[in-house]
Amino acid sequence: MPQISRRTAELGTENAFVVLAEVNELVRRGKDVISFCIGQPDFATPVNVQDAAVKAIRAGRHGYTPSAGIDELRAAAARYMGTMRGLDIRPEHVVVGAGAKPFIGYAILATTDYGAGDEVIYPNPGFPIYESQIRACGAMPVPLHLREARDFAFDPAELEARLSPRTKLLILNSPHNPTGGMLSRRDLEDIVAILRRHPDVWVYADEIYSRLCYAGEFASIASAPGMYERTIVSDGTSKTWAMTGWRIGFTANAALAPIFTRWITNTESCASQISQWAAVAAIEGPQADAEAMRASFLERRDLIVRLLNEVPGVSCRTPGGAFYAWPNVTEACRMIGAADSEEFRKRLLAEAGVAVLADIHFGARVPDEGQHIRFSYAASKQAIEAGVARIADFVRRNTRAAA
Ligand SMILES: Cc1ncc(COP(=O)(O)O)c(C=O)c1O
Repeated sequence: MPQISRRTAELGTENAFVVLAEVNELVRRGKDVISFCIGQPDFATPVNVQDAAVKAIRAGRHGYTPSAGIDELRAAAARYMGTMRGLDIRPEHVVVGAGAKPFIGYAILATTDYGAGDEVIYPNPGFPIYESQIRACGAMPVPLHLREARDFAFDPAELEARLSPRTKLLILNSPHNPTGGMLSRRDLEDIVAILRRHPDVWVYADEIYSRLCYAGEFASIASAPGMYERTIVSDGTSKTWAMTGWRIGFTANAALAPIFTRWITNTESCASQISQWAAVAAIEGPQADAEAMRASFLERRDLIVRLLNEVPGVSCRTPGGAFYAWPNVTEACRMIGAADSEEFRKRLLAEAGVAVLADIHFGARVPDEGQHIRFSYAASKQAIEAGVARIADFVRRNTRAAA
């Protein structure tokens, strides 16, 4: 039997998809499950965006586009990202891809060499694709721990301690998946001061949740003087306009734009032309739907945080952005006799019919930070109320049983 490569053996995954398959199987067998697993808006894409896609189809816009994207979308994305960050982003420095996700791999490929000991610092817990791609690209993953006491930002001193002559890339993600944490302007100033002492380190600013900020204004590291040149700004349409399945993301960086373009030529050729025209409409059209979705997420955030804090043994910080809650369930695990958050998650699914993800799905558990689970609260208010009521009931029932 021919062998499968070591690189492939190292490739990780996004466990949300694995748990989702588990949930779907249970549902197929007739179990009633309330799911908080999947990180995508539960709204339809705005109608003006749908109309733009239909128009593109009817106008015969069916072919390949340049690998970097159609001029109209590069210009719209440049204006959009530039305005939000106070930057003059040129359209030729923007590259459009099939979602923001592929750029994570392209950025690592463009800044590190395979097997050379090049290091990439990334947030832990964090979007699992960071670590997976760092390993698959043959670089060394260096996790940077997020701290509950800092509302899930990291301590800049810990960043400083992890930077070395081998560091090639720092990945930042704000607002953050899975904690909902945000880097404040003060945090960013501290990070910039440290990075000025390390001029050879690139920054990947994963800002896919840039429009879903509740605890203050969105702030990007790229806005600080001298930082845009070394920062890959990454944003997209998935979360802001409920377009996860349309697959449109974009990055901005002058030096790396031609390199990302070449990677795209080597892989998907270009993002779907139809989706690109839809994305132009999303960015340039009325923003009422995007604003209404954000307002709805904010209401649901307040609801789920309040309800989770009423569950015995659970404490939940108020997340600053995105649509995730990351409650601490250390005490609840102890109360019901679960060894850890993963056992808690599995029992919650099997015994209470509530699907969540566990902290270990987002990297190795941070020492001394306890046990956490992740909720995507892009779910209806009824689902949030019923789901958290099931969890409270589950903890109470099992506490009595454990006692
Ligand atoms: C932090 C983070 N970055 C990137 C992505 C990928 O987004 P896209 O749908 O644009 O590929 C996600 C999606 O869940 C995410 O949570």
